[in-house]
Amino acid sequence: MENANIRNVSVIGAGTMGNGIAHVFAQFGFTVQLIDVAEKALEKALATIGKNLDRQVAKEKITQADKEAALSRLSTGTDLATGVANADLVVEAATENTALKLKIFQQMDEAAPDKAILATNTSSISITQIAAVTKRPEQVIGMHFMNPVPVMKLVEVIRGYSTSDATYAAVEQASKTLGKVPVEVNDYPGFVANRILMPMINEAIISLHEGVAGVAEIDTVMKLGMAHPMGPLQLADFIGLDVCLSILRVLHEGLGLDKYAPCPLLVNMVTAGKLGAKSGEGFYVHTRGSKDLVVASAFAR
Ligand code: CAA
Repeated sequence: MENANIRNVSVIGAGTMGNGIAHVFAQFGFTVQLIDVAEKALEKALATIGKNLDRQVAKEKITQADKEAALSRLSTGTDLATGVANADLVVEAATENTALKLKIFQQMDEAAPDKAILATNTSSISITQIAAVTKRPEQVIGMHFMNPVPVMKLVEVIRGYSTSDATYAAVEQASKTLGKVPVEVNDYPGFVANRILMPMINEAIISLHEGVAGVAEIDTVMKLGMAHPMGPLQLADFIGLDVCLSILRVLHEGLGLDKYAPCPLLVNMVTAGKLGAKSGEGFYVHTRGSKDLVVASAFAR
């Protein structure tokens, strides 16, 4: 299938990644249907997309007319079957839960046109496993965007065992149309991004747990010493500690090596509901509207 045929894109899931993915497709001329079971999530996503487009207008990256055109190409809905009925490409960005994703892919496979490509934004679940529940495994692929989607240039494009060259080529071209840099990766646990990122984050948590240094100190070493835009503990809070834990478990189980075992401190924090920015506290305290980095009292020195 040629990219010229990808016009209508459906995005499943209106959370942080889903709204970012819908934003960039609408911005770059695709017609987008954003689908979520929760009407409230859709309202919130539209507000976030509007706000992020405003940021781009304020920075003169796009014009007010570009913003309005993008919003006019974007519609929302709560019914998956109706939402994918005209799709050329569906990008699933639901919660990172294997059973849920398999169910959604079965529904997408039933309802989307035969020619449609079914992509997943999963950060670690096997593309081959997801493809196996559909009748079109050669048209299933990973399209792993990074947060914040409108800013980050990378799309990790993951080929499952059966993904065809035509599917890869169409998704590679669509990613380029979004101004992104697609990178081809094979389907092994954590792909490339998280196979390398998560052990670094885990090691930062182990260093904290063992008292090598404090939260701010670890992050400052990595920010100023390695020119990372965020330290690993701040980044873990940004990604979500539950997401980090679930990806580490996929690496640990899938690769069978103890070096991927999640730090017990991370497990405890997730159990205690300290999930990072989304819950208001992780390694830092997060106050809506504030960019101040305040170390959580549990880690005060
Ligand atoms: N939408 C649109 N624009 C946005 C935005 C959004 N959601 N968020 C930030 N921006 C823009 C800002 O307007 C600003 O634009 P200019 O460069 O034109 O000024 C620029 O991005 C930088 O933003 P800020 O000035 O607000 O803040 P910052 O300089 O601290 O940058 C950041 C914020 C881009 C998030 C930066 O801290 C960063 O790159 N952090 C690391 C992000 C990262 O590693 N992401 C990957 C996470 S892993 C993942 O997503 C995958 C997984 O599977 C776990």
